[in-house]
Amino acid sequence: MSTDAASPPLASLERSIRERVAVVTGAASGIGRATARLFAHEGARVVVLDRDAVGAARVSDEIRAAGGTARGFALDVTEAARVSAVLAEAREALGPIDILVNNAGIVRATPIGAADFEAAWDATLAVNLTAQTRLVRACLEDLCRRREGRIVNIASTEGLGATAFASPYTASKHGVIGLTRALAVELGAAGVTVNAVCPGPIRTGMTAAIPDDAKAKYAKRRTALGRYGEPEEIAHMVLSLVLPAASFVTGAVLVVDGGLTIRNA
Ligand code: NAI
Repeated sequence: MSTDAASPPLASLERSIRERVAVVTGAASGIGRATARLFAHEGARVVVLDRDAVGAARVSDEIRAAGGTARGFALDVTEAARVSAVLAEAREALGPIDILVNNAGIVRATPIGAADFEAAWDATLAVNLTAQTRLVRACLEDLCRRREGRIVNIASTEGLGATAFASPYTASKHGVIGLTRALAVELGAAGVTVNAVCPGPIRTGMTAAIPDDAKAKYAKRRTALGRYGEPEEIAHMVLSLVLPAASFVTGAVLVVDGGLTIRNA
């Protein structure tokens, strides 16, 4: 739509993350990779973090090859001692952090009676929940500096309901929602928004071992749209939450699940 130079604009809030610095964890694959690519497409400067060093480098190369700005770093988010050093390097390369997407996650099928239950519990909570607090702490000063920091924590529909034999994962994702709400309340006065996205079944590395016919059957039976989602469909919701214009959205839990959680029959 063309605007007359003399008339005031019809809207004032910005819908661009151009030149913002965004950190995405678990960005070598799936939802994290799609988010990093979309952010770069929108002009952000992207810090691609993953424990998979080759994958992180590959995604930052993909972004640069397409004309975007990115730096890849090998980082296991459970390695407390390395987090601040890597973020200092990222800040040095791309500037202070405006946006944090806590996306790295793991899942293990673990019956409560399994011999290795406690190990699975500790490992799952360490990546899916504890590390989110670690990344927030490492980025906090930057996020607060202009009173417009943005945090998006990736939860799951397992943060709202439950599937048998996945209690560590389910508990971790319920925890992500609690953490999101607590930090939204705590950081609101600093002008930082904190929101959670709950993906339903998405075609990524995490679900790659499920055969296609099993995926199709499950999605047809359980979702309204009758299909798995694609990583970019989650990335677009994450983008909408980190826009400058999303300035009054905080503590929200956004379900992006093709209608899984609202379907009764
Ligand atoms: P994915 O397996 O494709 O990607 C996860 C990425 O996280 C991988 O690149 C992996 O190397 C990285 N990662 C794992 N542990 C890490 C650690 N300790 N430090 C750094 N990086 C680490 O999986 P997907 O599906 O893209 O998962 C992203 C998020 O979405 C996770 O939090 C997951 O729980 C969540 N989610 C995924 C759903 C799905 O159906 N795929 C559904 C609901 C939530």
